Amino acid sequence: MSDYQAMQAKLVAEIDAAADLDAVEALRVAALGKAGSVSALLKTLGGMTPDERQTQGPQIHALREAVTNALAARKAALEGAALEAKLAAERLDMTLPADAAPKGSVHPVSQVMDEIAEIFADMGFAVATGPEIEDDWRNFTALNIPETHPARAMHDTFYFPDKDAEGRAMLLRTHTSPVQVRTMMSQEPPIRIIAPGRVYRSDSDATHTPMFHQVEGLVIDRDIHMGHLKWTLETFLKAFFERDDIVLRLRPSYFPFTEPSAEVDVGYRQEKGRRIVGGHGDDDGHAWMELLGSGMVNRRVLANCGLDPDAWQGFAFGIGIDRLAMLKYGMDDLRAFFDGDLRWLSHYGFGALNVPTLSGGISA
Ligand code: PHE
Repeated sequence: MSDYQAMQAKLVAEIDAAADLDAVEALRVAALGKAGSVSALLKTLGGMTPDERQTQGPQIHALREAVTNALAARKAALEGAALEAKLAAERLDMTLPADAAPKGSVHPVSQVMDEIAEIFADMGFAVATGPEIEDDWRNFTALNIPETHPARAMHDTFYFPDKDAEGRAMLLRTHTSPVQVRTMMSQEPPIRIIAPGRVYRSDSDATHTPMFHQVEGLVIDRDIHMGHLKWTLETFLKAFFERDDIVLRLRPSYFPFTEPSAEVDVGYRQEKGRRIVGGHGDDDGHAWMELLGSGMVNRRVLANCGLDPDAWQGFAFGIGIDRLAMLKYGMDDLRAFFDGDLRWLSHYGFGALNVPTLSGGISA
């Protein structure tokens, strides 16, 4: 056996016996690194006579190749073993029964948002979203609330100190209506969307929190009228409260972005300190409760969003989601929604697997 073959056998044996990747790397440096033993042999080629080089060159190169291959093979084997060990350690037995006492629950607001999306999806509405940090053009101006309009002050807006690149004031959106603007500017009509999400106003007491949830509705098409609006809301509320005796009262109102505008009241009665939605608000023991704002989309808003008001029209509405959740599930203090109290959550929360569907039951 030549010296080279003996050296190769020794090196390959060491590499094959390397216990871990660090050991492999140390052996690689010792053999093939700048000051490595194999590298040193390669350097001797330069000082050899052509004859010597002809016989020894191939042997040295064969040695280097054998060592390189042994290193790669050992490295791959160790990496493979590490992966196997990791997979074995992370193995999950999917046949075990689910944890009998699962931790955590779905917040009533999330549950109600899912219920709303499910009901409107059945009526052909898609879910649209927009950012919670908005600019004042989309939150106000495009919605026909000019700078001097008193509605701006009424919204108790949280403003950011800096303007955006286009010089627009930035704010936390005070309602979900800017999603109307975003949708009309990015989609061709016909449009049928709802936009659930967080909104912010500087306001706080038992029925107001600085952050709360709304769901916006927007329909744009040809020949849309208030009758479509009323039918849509009635159909939604019947499905949401799971009862047929929902009676609505549309009261003339004013919103800058709808014309005409209507506030929608629903009949209810008081039972054991709880408001139960249903029935005609003027019947015995019943009253009306204001539920949401709505109206036909103002021509000026359509034009601001690049739509021809003579070709397209539609309706919009905005509902407080927290309010809907309180009415349906009987909570009385809005602030508790955002306290993060685990006892409240486990009492009012929903199981993660109780997904609301129209066929399986909306509040299953
Ligand atoms: N954006 C209004 C609010 O927050 C509600 C609304 C939406 C009214 C759409 C009419 C149409 O009070």
